[in-house]
Amino acid sequence: MKEQNVLSVDETIQLIQIGQATQTTCSSKLSEGPWVWDAEQPAYGPGASMGDHLPTGSPQQGILPGEYQKATPAELDLRIRAAKHALGERVVILGHFYQRDEVIKYADFVGDSFQLAQAAKTRPNAESIVFCGVHFMAETADMLSRSDQAVILPNLAAGCSMADMADLDSVTDCWEQLHEALGEAPDAGGRQPIIPVTYMNSSAALKGFCGEHGGIVCTSSNAAAVLRWAFERGQRVLFFPDQHLGRNTGKAMGIPVDQMPLWDPAKPLSAAAIQDAKILLWHGFCSVHKRFSVEQIDRARREHPGVQVIVHPESPMAVVDAADAAGSTDFIVKAIASAEAGGTFAIGTEINLVQRLANQYPQHSIFCLDPVICPCSTMYRIHPGYLAWVLESLERGEVLNRITVPESVAIPARVALERMLSVRPDAQLDPTK
Ligand code: 13P
Ligand code: SF4
Repeated sequence: MKEQNVLSVDETIQLIQIGQATQTTCSSKLSEGPWVWDAEQPAYGPGASMGDHLPTGSPQQGILPGEYQKATPAELDLRIRAAKHALGERVVILGHFYQRDEVIKYADFVGDSFQLAQAAKTRPNAESIVFCGVHFMAETADMLSRSDQAVILPNLAAGCSMADMADLDSVTDCWEQLHEALGEAPDAGGRQPIIPVTYMNSSAALKGFCGEHGGIVCTSSNAAAVLRWAFERGQRVLFFPDQHLGRNTGKAMGIPVDQMPLWDPAKPLSAAAIQDAKILLWHGFCSVHKRFSVEQIDRARREHPGVQVIVHPESPMAVVDAADAAGSTDFIVKAIASAEAGGTFAIGTEINLVQRLANQYPQHSIFCLDPVICPCSTMYRIHPGYLAWVLESLERGEVLNRITVPESVAIPARVALERMLSVRPDAQLDPTK
């Protein structure tokens, strides 16, 4: 890694808290250890999802032992390195792009959710896969890894508020209502009335639902190719949980916005609207990407003439339309890596990734579109203290926080994932803008 010249998100938040940084954060509570939230009422904790509704029954993290809460960063660093060294090839640590730098520095692989699930396969000797990401990512890694490999989520409260916006019962209700309106019969070309497509950011149960109902999984890198796969087999698509990725991808494929109505049980659609729909969009969203706005883009263009604005397709449609390019985390990383020196980039994605890119590419000026420091609440629940705790427990032979998807769910979910793998990946959402 090149020399660092930009503070990490954690360092910036600590400085804001003591009045030594000019930036603002969305919550002064971000400077506290996440174990404070383990002891409180179940919630996502401070950060972008703090206003979101946590479903009952979401996994809760027990209290982190005091020795890890009290340890200084230097002590935790020594303990993590020692445990990792002692475990050797028996453990692999995966770090999502949005994870804090203070955890990423221990990761054997850093990447997007799907790259990380695949990366685990390259370490066949690893008995344990410590996934420093969120719950649905750990579930996917469990389904794609060997059954004797344990996937560990260092803090069980690291869910994903978007994934939590669609549950199996409500999707099943929606599916039944859609079939009441559309019937079950295929058209003359053999296409089903509707095909379910779930974003990777969803529970294993919903991936299993797609596997069982002729559907498929997509990521933000392959959503257009997956939708084309679905339209070869169906007249319409039910896309969940992220309305924005569905709408942005459908629009880039030429589907009129009025043929992509929102499915919200509180506001039922008419039978005619369901018939006319090409994509029925679930009412989910990401609270990190919802923060980006056209006003922020206008300001970036005013203050930084020549700036390139790149946003993630979980951002609202108006933001994607106003940006220069839109694409997955991997697309954003590659766009910066391949840019000629001296560029100015305003990035619309999670702040930890943006600050890291700013550090890694000092030849560019890189900043987050959102001036307020507001990380993904759930990624932020993973702190070096939890990593030290799970690694030292592994060293003693104790597997903590194992994420296991029952085979009854994993079998159909793998069908939907394999369908996705069979789809030839194509260019990103909007590479020509
Ligand atoms: P990736 O699929 O690119 O890892 O993104 C996951 C995510 O949570 C985006 O908000
Ligand atoms: Fe979920 Fe959004 Fe966080 Fe990604 S950034 S894990 S979609 S809440």
